[in-house]
Amino acid sequence: MFENLPAEAFSRGSVIGWGFSVLTFLLCRYLVNRWNTQSEKRGRPGAKVKLVPRGRMQLEPQLNIEWNNIEPAKFRPFKPQYAMTMALEKADFQEWLLLENTYDRMTTHRSEIAKNHTQDVNLVVDDPRTTAAVYELYDTVVGYMFTKWPQYFSRDGKNIKNLIKNTTFPANAERSKQSPKRLLEYLAENVEEDFIVLEYDENEEEYIAKAATFIAPSGFVPAEKVGIKLSDIHGPVPKYDEKLKLSMNRFFRRIETGQLVKRFNWTIQNSDKIYLPKGSHAGAAEKVERLHAKDLDFDHTVHFRVERQTLSRLPKSRFLVFTIRTYLTPLSQLKKEGLGERLVEAIHGLPSYIKQYKRADAWGPAVEEYMTMP
Ligand code: HEM
Repeated sequence: MFENLPAEAFSRGSVIGWGFSVLTFLLCRYLVNRWNTQSEKRGRPGAKVKLVPRGRMQLEPQLNIEWNNIEPAKFRPFKPQYAMTMALEKADFQEWLLLENTYDRMTTHRSEIAKNHTQDVNLVVDDPRTTAAVYELYDTVVGYMFTKWPQYFSRDGKNIKNLIKNTTFPANAERSKQSPKRLLEYLAENVEEDFIVLEYDENEEEYIAKAATFIAPSGFVPAEKVGIKLSDIHGPVPKYDEKLKLSMNRFFRRIETGQLVKRFNWTIQNSDKIYLPKGSHAGAAEKVERLHAKDLDFDHTVHFRVERQTLSRLPKSRFLVFTIRTYLTPLSQLKKEGLGERLVEAIHGLPSYIKQYKRADAWGPAVEEYMTMP
């Protein structure tokens, strides 16, 4: 998929400008197909690389959309019975990154988090392969933005103008001479998704998180998750080794450039924060204090938190890219949507080990009381 997006290829389109968007699109299509074939031919030395069918992952510009008219997607993935599986769905490249009417407010908020927690949220392991992968990720994201939304992200010499925020960011990672950490900050400031890149380690026989912009952690300290392998990242997740480790490691190795999958995680939190490193999870032996509906503010503080996650592979570095887009919705909104009963059923359907991990014994009874109140 990402072979579609060398920032260079797309720069020509924005120079030609608005009136030539159709021409730009055709040119992109040609360059993408050429680059697609060449990058697959280059591949990794000795690696068996599958050829991605030409044109399969075309990215269509969305010229007719207005960002501030797009309501945030309402992802409500809770089910009557929780199954501890990968629960991956095929996704289309067109929906990799999203633009919704929360963009300006949330990217401003993300910049503040990045500034206030500078040691914690934009993280890079210092090695040349990781630097190259961060450059590749950066160029891919920038290319994606100004191909899909040329009316909002346009080329201006060495920079991209962000016409929504009236700011600029570098058009090309390497030429910008910015550090990988600074490049990740630019992503945090301009995109609502978090990004983590992972590299396969032959000795560990597992993927390792090598760099991340982790602006919206829920129940973990991002700095403690970078530089370690997938099974250690998931160390606190109960039954991970037994139920997920094998299938995840196998799937992560198999995913090819050109494929995109997505999944969802949900929980309830007594907070309106997306940056929430503490307080969401409990260890197996921890005593969880029960909350009471009368003490809680379901309009402003108690939120349904859903994370839309995607997984794909960069073609040059062959690092994996994991994205997380976080949505917070006040519980009163879910009640208005008539989802109270479904949510209560889903909370009852959580196995006890997940209930404990998600602290559902704290918020579950209060949510049930609130949702069943007239
Ligand atoms: C197919 C891919 C993945 C699956 C099925 C998966 C599954 C899970 C599950 C079931 C949890 C428990 C959280 C909950 O339900 O609230 C979790 C937590 C978590 N996952 Fe993943 N995950 C995936 C990929 C990743 C990747 C690539 C990262 C990269 C860093 C990651 C980082 C985390 C972290 C940091 C936590 C919180 C752990 C903690 O409590 O300290 N996950 N994951």
